[in-house]
Amino acid sequence: MDQPLIELTGATLEYAARARAVDAVDLTVPTGQFLAVVGPSGSGKTSLLNLIGGLERPTSGSVRVSDLELSRSDDRQLSAYRSSKIGFVFQSFHLHPSRTALENTSIPLYFTSTPMAEGLARCRELLQRLGLAGLEDRSVSQLSGGQRQRVAIARALVNRPPILLADEPIGHLDGETASVVLELLSELHKSEQVTMVVVTHDMSILNVAERTVEMAGGRLIR
Ligand SMILES: Nc1ncnc2c1ncn2[C@@H]1O[C@H](COP(=O)(O)OP(=O)(O)OP(=O)(O)O)[C@@H](O)[C@H]1O
Ligand SMILES: [Mg+2]
Repeated sequence: MDQPLIELTGATLEYAARARAVDAVDLTVPTGQFLAVVGPSGSGKTSLLNLIGGLERPTSGSVRVSDLELSRSDDRQLSAYRSSKIGFVFQSFHLHPSRTALENTSIPLYFTSTPMAEGLARCRELLQRLGLAGLEDRSVSQLSGGQRQRVAIARALVNRPPILLADEPIGHLDGETASVVLELLSELHKSEQVTMVVVTHDMSILNVAERTVEMAGGRLIR
């Protein structure tokens, strides 16, 4: 088997003593996989993504991505890791409501050396592929929930990260819009060859993900 891109071994995250949001999780994700993480509210899905995305360091155990051991990385290394390797779609979008779709999508460009003209072309291409052509210059506060969700996905992909982490990317959408966004994720997975970890409690993810794991009480169960 190929060397896994993401490898968690006994990964544990405690926010407060004795309360384990992630409890001794072993998980390997090979390069290019589309992995879904399902489980009830409070089961530790966001916490697991935060460990993989370098937003939290494990309290114990190991989180390794390529050659980088995140548990032993300092803040500077983690921040470099996040901007070069990770696209993050947050559960609550984290968009700037008064800025336009295009401006929001272009924010990650400011943390790289990509020439701005090239980066903006990439933003426009992504927005178009996500069905937002014509809405580039509209402020996000005037977009629907499903459109905001797609702006957040475009922004996460703009720097061509090898890993996309998406937290409930279809959480607030109606069934039809949810299946459109899932289909887009699946298409982007193929065309961008990005490794994807998508958290959801929407079981329609099973139609597009290559593999699904389930969390309960911070643990990975089958
Ligand atoms: N910053 C925090 N400080 C303390 N406890 C936290 C913090 N964030 C999460 N928790 C706790 O950790 C556990 C796992 O939370 P997490 O947000 O990972 O769950 P989740 O599976 O993403 O839930 P949801 O589906 O509702 O988003 C919960 O018991 C939660 O209360
Ligand atoms: Mg969550």
